[in-house]
Amino acid sequence: MGESSFHWQENLCREQKAAGSIFVIFGASGDLSKRKLFPSLFALFRRGLMDEQTRLIGCARHGYDTVSFRAEIASVLPADADRTQRESFLDKITYHVLDYEREEDFRRLAGLLPVIPPGGTLIHYLALPSVLYLQTVRNLSVSGLLKEDPSPGRKCQVVFEKPFGSDLASFRVLDEGLKQYLSERQIYRIDHYLGKETVQNIFLLRFANRIFEDLWDRDHIDSIQITAAETLGVEKRAGYFDQAGILQDMFQNHMLEMLALAVMDCPREFSGDAVRDEKVKLIRSIARIDPEYVVRGQYRSYQNETGVRTDSPTETFAAMRLFIDSRRWAQVPIYLRAGKKLSCRKTQIDIVFKRIPFSIFPGIRKEDLQQNILHLYIQPQEGMGLTLQAKKEGPKLCMGALTLCYEHGQRSAAGLDAYARLLLDCQLNDQTLFSRSDVIDASWQLFQELQEFWKRNNRKDLFIYDDGSRGPEKSISLLHNDNRKWILDLTENDIR
Ligand code: BG6
Repeated sequence: MGESSFHWQENLCREQKAAGSIFVIFGASGDLSKRKLFPSLFALFRRGLMDEQTRLIGCARHGYDTVSFRAEIASVLPADADRTQRESFLDKITYHVLDYEREEDFRRLAGLLPVIPPGGTLIHYLALPSVLYLQTVRNLSVSGLLKEDPSPGRKCQVVFEKPFGSDLASFRVLDEGLKQYLSERQIYRIDHYLGKETVQNIFLLRFANRIFEDLWDRDHIDSIQITAAETLGVEKRAGYFDQAGILQDMFQNHMLEMLALAVMDCPREFSGDAVRDEKVKLIRSIARIDPEYVVRGQYRSYQNETGVRTDSPTETFAAMRLFIDSRRWAQVPIYLRAGKKLSCRKTQIDIVFKRIPFSIFPGIRKEDLQQNILHLYIQPQEGMGLTLQAKKEGPKLCMGALTLCYEHGQRSAAGLDAYARLLLDCQLNDQTLFSRSDVIDASWQLFQELQEFWKRNNRKDLFIYDDGSRGPEKSISLLHNDNRKWILDLTENDIR
């Protein structure tokens, strides 16, 4: 007895190594490439999860040659890495200057690429602003860089970073444009939340255990809450964020993906299409969101951020109540909340169970007893907890709320970070953790009315909240009015 114990079952732990791939990273001189992509590729290399024949090609408009680019990448690799390992990794990298609008640059690139190993994949990673997506894919296509070769099994795919449009109409234009050159099977849309260990754990926890699924419905669950609170503001991204807002930035993708994993039906198997079939079914069954039950806010100092429009109506916070029209979930309120410049950085899902129907304990009302809650701690702490009512040592009738907690170990010991996981999966041609076109389409449809309503209202229903606070007070009363409260109380530093 003592701390939670985790008995690894080696036979249930599988990590697959991919065949050799050619990664072409467009926008290689940018922040994402240096901060996330190359360090994550190095993490795969270090773990022995990168084939010897894999090659990494950085492309951007200017900035480097191969020697100076390798030196730049060397500076972002972990300092504790073994020197020979670092050097062998850097040897895999080459750099080419390329203008995304010039067809001849792509043709030249096609002549310079190493041969794709049999069974391997040519992966184009577009770490670029989304306005360049279509043009780049068109140039890849005309220069033969999207061709697959079925006989030795050489595949080709393109990885895109969000945003995937800014509303339903713009998403559809982008999607139809891409589909002229690529099939859905070749399109890998990144939602980095899906690469997080704790987000994948939602799936395993629900579908690899017997005890939850039978309780996972309106008869047993009172409500579901998901919060993604950040302490940072828009930082240097005001140019993008001021046009987008938190609804586009967090809800249309990360929040809905987490919600879908938490409440969707069990897929027929753990595979890309089966999982995403259930997700789309779930998102399509979310009822129209009533703007009455949505709170939007803006942090007080937002207007002073460089790059933000004067009198900007952009929301940096939103909280909402929604319902799912299905037999399983009818009338179970789902509360979602995400915001910037809040009191703490915490992402958490709370599954709140119904009260016991009747108290047999003399003098104790059922309302006095704590509801059971399953907490899924997504970040920064990673793990899960279960709140129960339990006996406390002392008088015969003495109870309290007990939270059993499990924290995942240090990532360095076992897990891969989100980008490394996703970069490995795209080499394995596994789309389970990537977003599918119909899922994104359904999520834009869900928010369309709200987006239009806010546009019409301009700043009318925008609540200003203090930096470092828990967001607009109205987001608290959203639950109070339903006789509930946020389980994650953002006024405290650590509720556990
Ligand atoms: C990104 C958003 O997708 O996710 C950012 O564009 C947000 O605005 C970020 O800060 C949050 O990611 P994480 O992994 O830090 O929770």
